[in-house]
Amino acid sequence: MGVLSFFLFLSCFLAVTHGSPSDCVGEPQGILPDPAKVSGLWNLIAVSLSPNAKYQLDEIAYVYTKVSFNETEFTFAVFSNPMSDTNGQLYRHERVPGTQAYKYISTEVLEEVYTTILFQPHPDILICYERANDEINGAYIHSRAASVPKEELDSFLEWSKCNNLINITVYNRTVNDAQECYDLFEHSEDLKDIEGCETWGLVAKASNYADRNYNIRMLYSAKLELCKTEEAYTVKEIQIVGDEKILMELKYENGTTGNKVKLQSFKTETDILLLGVLNEKQRTLFLASKTSKAKQTVLDDFEIKAHCFEAAFTYLVPGSKEEENTENH
Ligand SMILES: *[C@@H]1O[C@H](CO)[C@@H](O)[C@H](O)[C@H]1NC(C)=O
Ligand SMILES: *[C@@H]1O[C@H](CO)[C@@H](O)[C@H](O)[C@H]1NC(C)=O
Ligand SMILES: *[C@@H]1O[C@H](CO)[C@@H](O)[C@H](O)[C@H]1NC(C)=O
Ligand SMILES: *[C@@H]1O[C@H](CO)[C@@H](O)[C@H](O)[C@H]1NC(C)=O
Repeated sequence: MGVLSFFLFLSCFLAVTHGSPSDCVGEPQGILPDPAKVSGLWNLIAVSLSPNAKYQLDEIAYVYTKVSFNETEFTFAVFSNPMSDTNGQLYRHERVPGTQAYKYISTEVLEEVYTTILFQPHPDILICYERANDEINGAYIHSRAASVPKEELDSFLEWSKCNNLINITVYNRTVNDAQECYDLFEHSEDLKDIEGCETWGLVAKASNYADRNYNIRMLYSAKLELCKTEEAYTVKEIQIVGDEKILMELKYENGTTGNKVKLQSFKTETDILLLGVLNEKQRTLFLASKTSKAKQTVLDDFEIKAHCFEAAFTYLVPGSKEEENTENH
């Protein structure tokens, strides 16, 4: 506790000298994390960064984190959508002897020098703040729940501003992403088995962009065509309104298209295809089946998956809901 108090005192002192005395008084107060209790899943609620921080807000792309913490090591894995190449990325830290700080262990992927300190204003809230070059650089507030009480958030933000962490984002979660999304997507190797071309009836799609093609009032159907030659894939999204119209055509060669184009199928029920497609900044999750129909339970599950895919737009192809009575005999 001594070192933490010292840091907090120092932070407040610095802020006082910048002329905002009352803002920092008593901030932040908390308990050092109990190693037995801090490990596990946490939703990211807000981030505050110094304008001098190496990273800025648009680069903080995680939604929740899995923490593993003890007296000597602190590791966290960050998660967002399953197409992101940083999904599940690990950040390892080791305890700086004689202090409460943990030093980041640099890797080839991310060469960085910083230390981080964890504390908890409340057992269900976790705050991590980072120092680089002896300056507080950024702070992150996490919750076990989807949100934090307003007064906790306000005091975090106030403390942040006092410490020049003025680049602030608050994420307004409506869902407990850590609980809903962790482990929801499991990679499938199904695509490897494609021989020649396969056609799937599109049931629904979810994307991070609005697609006006799916907002039409006319009755339509849609399909996905997947072709494979050796390691190269072609995906076509085709909408049928009388005539066939190709909405998307994408070529993907495993290992050669970098991070910009990606194709990944996920495990699901038999005769169902759950396909993630990344094309530059466009991210799409397709739900397709052999019959062009799916049960209500599959559609409900897709809704959660769409959320965890960070897709704000969901489209259901008309007539794709399988009637329930087929199950009764
Ligand atoms: C955040 O920091 C960056 C980099 O210093 C700066 O360009 C940007 O204006 C800041 N944003 C806000 C909201 O202060
Ligand atoms: C802390 O965790 C690491 C990694 O899980 C483990 O190797 C180490 O033995 C643990 N240390 C203590 C003191 O529990
Ligand atoms: C969260 O809500 C606040 C207040 O409504 C808003 O100012 C802020 O931009 C929202 N944050 C995000 C990331 O959308
Ligand atoms: C791409 O290559 C990786 C590594 O070799 C493999 O695990 C994955 O299944 C491949 N994906 C496809 C779609 O062929």
